[in-house]
Amino acid sequence: MKGRERIPGDKSISHRALMFGALTVGETMISGLLEGEDVLHTAEAMRKLGAKIEKSPDGLWRTYGVGVGGLKQPDSTIEMGNSGTSTRLLIGLIGGHNITATFTGDASLSKRPMKRVITPLKMMGATFEATDGDKLPLTVTGPEDLLSIEYRLPIASAQVKSAILLAGLNARGTTTIIEEKPTRDHTEKMLQHFGVEVTTKTLDDGATAISVIGHQELQPGAVDVPSDPSSAAFPAVAALLHEGSKITLPNIAISDRRNGIYLTLQDMGADIEFQNKRIQAGEDVADIIVRGTGSLKGIKIDPARVPSMIDEFPVLAMAAACANGTTKMTGLAELRIKESDRLTMVAEGLKACGVKLETGDDWITIYGTGKPPKGGATIETALDHRIAMSFLVLGTVTEKPVSVDDGEPIKTSFPNFIELMNELGCDIGEA
Ligand code: S3P
Repeated sequence: MKGRERIPGDKSISHRALMFGALTVGETMISGLLEGEDVLHTAEAMRKLGAKIEKSPDGLWRTYGVGVGGLKQPDSTIEMGNSGTSTRLLIGLIGGHNITATFTGDASLSKRPMKRVITPLKMMGATFEATDGDKLPLTVTGPEDLLSIEYRLPIASAQVKSAILLAGLNARGTTTIIEEKPTRDHTEKMLQHFGVEVTTKTLDDGATAISVIGHQELQPGAVDVPSDPSSAAFPAVAALLHEGSKITLPNIAISDRRNGIYLTLQDMGADIEFQNKRIQAGEDVADIIVRGTGSLKGIKIDPARVPSMIDEFPVLAMAAACANGTTKMTGLAELRIKESDRLTMVAEGLKACGVKLETGDDWITIYGTGKPPKGGATIETALDHRIAMSFLVLGTVTEKPVSVDDGEPIKTSFPNFIELMNELGCDIGEA
């Protein structure tokens, strides 16, 4: 694989740029927005909540916000498709407004647990009606007078942290979230970028307290969305598996909350270089250069690294399947409740491709042989974009081609994945 390709905008940052732009009073200009289905669902949701959002012919997106506290009652159900992140963040945002909204989603999103956001938001005064207690379709109503809370996160989740912070923006007093393990901090950084005071403090037990005082105004401005490190991981792993490859992926968001996959691949012996490190819209950004030697070694991955690479385990498993030696991954309980049960989907798919492995409740051990597995299987993707892309990456090196049963979910996060991979020299086609 050879070449330089611009990876689409970061999904987490794109969702937040649209939401936070909608909370300013005035015009916010967004460049580099990911135009994947998940983000387009966020845009549509914010329109239903009263913001004006449009794409100009110059490719820039513009939001015209309604201000904190200014969201309007939507006049119909908000359809979120596959997007767990925007659903959970919007539940927080709406729970902080005195309005009612009902969310629906596709078959994957409808299975995902919402209790993790319902519990703290109920403490703040929001009320809920949810299918089976915590699933979509779900209706949330924000109270007239929202209470601020102090909440220790029971799970390492940026989505939960963000949902509470977004509700807290419209609460009386200070809302504090205590986070034991650092999770992605795009919400904190972008709120600061929009002029909101967010404070962080290290507590005696090593946890971090993140606080926001309610009723602060967001100042309109501009956001330049960097490229998505989670999407970049697919061509990066593919290039590593092909000896002689050299690819450049410019402008990737690469803070210590998102770079776990790259550090782990380096620990496996990968040649990955970060150039032009800089700050863009409050985010750490770098150009990534990947050189493939076709040889990686199996390793034991420190579970402390899990939050910084939570979305990258499927593609890492593909690298582990080709590496020389055993790779052990632990602390993966959250993978069971992503867009699919990713531990099961990865294990079943790899086994079908001829890989030896073992799994338990929250772990997987993959026995790499130092060469690619035979492949030749059709993989079930269960509406999970990252399962689809991971196995297509594996298929670029297996003896026999790998197929996925459904490529549609790729559009949620990386609409030009196939074209981009093929421009770099892969051969991915539609059957
Ligand atoms: C995200 C947080 C992560 C991640 C998801 C995006 C975000 O989820 O898996 O793809 O933008 O906040 P959790 O916070 O639930 O781990």
